[in-house]
Amino acid sequence: MTHIDRSPFRTGLLENRTVLITGGGTGLGRSAALKCASLGARVGVVGRREEPLKATVGEIEKAGGRAAFASCDVRDAASVVAAFDSIEASLGPVNSLVNNAAGNFLCASEDLSDNAFDSVVKIVLYGTFNCTRELGRRLIRAKQEGHVLAIVTSYAVTGSAFVLPSAAAKAGVLAMMRSLAVEWAVYGIRLNAIAPGPFPTEGAFSRLMAGDLEKKAVERVPMKRFGEHDELSNLIAYLLSDASPYQTGDCVTIDGAEALFSGQEFAGFAHLDRAAAKALMTSIKPKK
Ligand code: HXC
Ligand code: NAP
Repeated sequence: MTHIDRSPFRTGLLENRTVLITGGGTGLGRSAALKCASLGARVGVVGRREEPLKATVGEIEKAGGRAAFASCDVRDAASVVAAFDSIEASLGPVNSLVNNAAGNFLCASEDLSDNAFDSVVKIVLYGTFNCTRELGRRLIRAKQEGHVLAIVTSYAVTGSAFVLPSAAAKAGVLAMMRSLAVEWAVYGIRLNAIAPGPFPTEGAFSRLMAGDLEKKAVERVPMKRFGEHDELSNLIAYLLSDASPYQTGDCVTIDGAEALFSGQEFAGFAHLDRAAAKALMTSIKPKK
């Protein structure tokens, strides 16, 4: 299987964008930050821990890009306002937001404490609302157009056992993007969601892939591999760019067809050697 071109975009694709990425110090947020900066965007990264944010900004600046960070807990609306102020003081008005910060862990739902449920829902659902509302207010006040992305998951649509706070919050985020795509179209603000399947990151895999779960997860992907960060970052760049001006209220799945595989009755045939699958199907043809 050939992989995609590593540099499919023209130089400077995002040079008119100032992008704020929540959780931009680690994992997929960090990869998105590096990608957006490499395409000419000014990039602000926010998160609770200063160290990873500083490191991301350092990498961008070393490569000649412009970036800034602000420590911020997205659960706290005042902290979000302060982060926007701080990033804008360094980089100018923000016109694009990637809601990427999240919290998650595996737990039987009957064992969740109040605080366990709260902490994930507040990061994912309230955090996305706090950041999205703040950018919306600023853009509407300044009469500027802009873009909001939310990184959800493929289970935002189906729900998922054992990650109930995340599933419920991601479903809410998807509804938020779809609601605002209609409400804010008049202001020229586009909102879309991206629903990834598994992409290896320390944050996600250390919390969700115990035992042989990782092996089982890859077996569910018809493309027989996890996603690569560049593949997701390219999708983010495309959706933030002028290449997709009519796309809003959408949710783009990027999972090697994993979610479809999991929901299709006879999908298992796709994992058999094709000749063996055909022989099996022929063997159960009704005799005339
Ligand atoms: C049960 C748990 C728990 C666990 C924490 N808690 N981990 N309960 N099982 N494994 C409970 C705690 O006991 C506490 O409740 C409450 O949750 C809050 O925990 P804190 O550690 O005090 O919270 P906090 O420091 O705010 O940390 C938030 C967090 C943490 C979500 C718990 O994991 C975190 O910081 N995560 C950020 C990064 C992350 O999760 N990345 C993965 C994203 S992957 P009590 O009652 O004891 O006070 C993703 C999608 C992947 O989102 C999809 C893959 C396909
Ligand atoms: P990650 O590295 O753990 O990223 C989560 C980020 O969110 C961290 O940088 C964290 O930084 C930040 N964050 C958490 N709580 C915060 C808070 N209260 N305020 C501000 N920032 C906070 O995990 P990841 O895998 O890259 O996940 C990124 C996104 O992709 C998430 O939305 C996740 O749900 C989604 N996703 C991931 C996968 C996957 O397989 N990796 C699959 C589907 C969807 P601090 O801890 O420093 O705050």
